[in-house]
Amino acid sequence: MKIEEVKSTAKTQRISVHTHIKGLGLDENGTAIQAAAGLVGQELAREAAGIVVDMIKSKKMAGRAVLLAGPPGTGKTAIALAIAQELGNKVPFCPMVGSEVYSSEIKKTEVLMENFRRAIGLRIKETKEVYEGEVTELTPIETENPMGGYGKTVSHVVIGLKTAKGTKQLKLDPSIYESLQKEKVETGDVIYIEVNSGAVKRQGRSDNFATEFDLEAEEYVPLPKGDVHKKKEVIQDVTLHDLDVANAKPQGGQDIMSMMGQLMKPKKTEITDKLRKEINKVVNKYIDQGIAELVPGVLFIDEVHMLDIETFTYLHRALESAIAPIVIFATNRGRCIIRGTEDIISPHGIPLDLLDRLLIIRTLPYSRAEIEQIVKLRAITEGLHIDEEALSTLGELGTKTTLRYVVQLLTPAALTARINERTNIKKEDIEEVGALFLDAKSSAKILTQNKDKFMK
Ligand SMILES: Nc1ncnc2c1ncn2[C@@H]1O[C@H](COP(=O)(O)OP(=O)(O)OP(=O)(O)O)[C@@H](O)[C@H]1O
Ligand SMILES: [Mg+2]
Repeated sequence: MKIEEVKSTAKTQRISVHTHIKGLGLDENGTAIQAAAGLVGQELAREAAGIVVDMIKSKKMAGRAVLLAGPPGTGKTAIALAIAQELGNKVPFCPMVGSEVYSSEIKKTEVLMENFRRAIGLRIKETKEVYEGEVTELTPIETENPMGGYGKTVSHVVIGLKTAKGTKQLKLDPSIYESLQKEKVETGDVIYIEVNSGAVKRQGRSDNFATEFDLEAEEYVPLPKGDVHKKKEVIQDVTLHDLDVANAKPQGGQDIMSMMGQLMKPKKTEITDKLRKEINKVVNKYIDQGIAELVPGVLFIDEVHMLDIETFTYLHRALESAIAPIVIFATNRGRCIIRGTEDIISPHGIPLDLLDRLLIIRTLPYSRAEIEQIVKLRAITEGLHIDEEALSTLGELGTKTTLRYVVQLLTPAALTARINERTNIKKEDIEEVGALFLDAKSSAKILTQNKDKFMK
């Protein structure tokens, strides 16, 4: 049987406006450094977020929920992404926006459940029989196509593997040749091949070759010790959603399936509740046996006021279940009507009973100096040059509007500077684009002043 790793189904994030953020910027005591890791000010919220990170890492947080609440543009989304950075890539982090649940094809609760399972990781440790070493030779042996015709096919592949202890030459099945090609294995790479499944894993380039062209993307690994043929502990990090997908569509990710095969007959199916229950059962069994370890991650629901009463109820229940991630909500709403109800008004549009179990982190508006610092950071990240005077104009404008508005003015201001054949953004560029583009507050004001001129 041909086997691959379970493919990761992690979502790629749309974070282009947050690319300057690299972490929470705390010192070793958990105190916020005024400007660090791309974050400026908002010290209390950052320190609170740091405690949340520690609790997640020490697994004291599963099934709990946090709410980031504050006015628009006060860094709620930024801090949530900083939490993700601090957690590292071994802890799953699944971002979503409240409005994502409204789809004409998928049920609201189904969308939530999927994202829930994207935020729960499983670390599987297995001892596997492998051939491991640095590739010294890789030769596909061709034969005439047995079906006739002129084409040739690979009958087998000869591979040489070297470790610190010795070398071995193997004659392998052509299906493994495909896996070798998929992993882009070349001589000089360190790989291992699982004996039972034939899965190939490229671990990196042997550090004997570290001096040739130094491609930054390349990872150099030492020549493996021990024999070529041995038992090896293999660790795989997957999410429950990865498992759902792998088992619903047998063509991908058959590795976990081979483990789960004892319980489930692979069939091409949708991800159903039944499938999820089966997977949970197997997962629990592995946890009991010590083969796997649960890694509760983070489900981040931005703009949580967009959820309705039905999804809130569902969420509340899901948080109570034995396997639950940490949920982080964010909202800029004050008291408002809970969606899906006629007239129930609640703080942040969240039902009181759910609100009651949240830890709430508040974000506050920025000072003018902080706004200038953040705008400067963004300018550097976007590769723009900005005059001190222009920066101070933006700072002042920011106190009257929002941080997001002034950050967004940077790009058009850079354009007008370029039109005027300058490389530096000047005060006049800011004034020009400031007059062209309205911020939300002024726009709303104009609307109320000129009610009669607009269509209702
Ligand atoms: N403390 C900060 N340090 C550096 N950059 C920040 C900080 N706070 C916000 N930003 C940046 O300012 C912009 C707006 O912030 P963000 O989107 O996080 O606000 P928000 O609180 O989520 O607003 P909204 O309620 O409208 O969603 C983003 O580009 C963000 O990266
Ligand atoms: Mg936001």
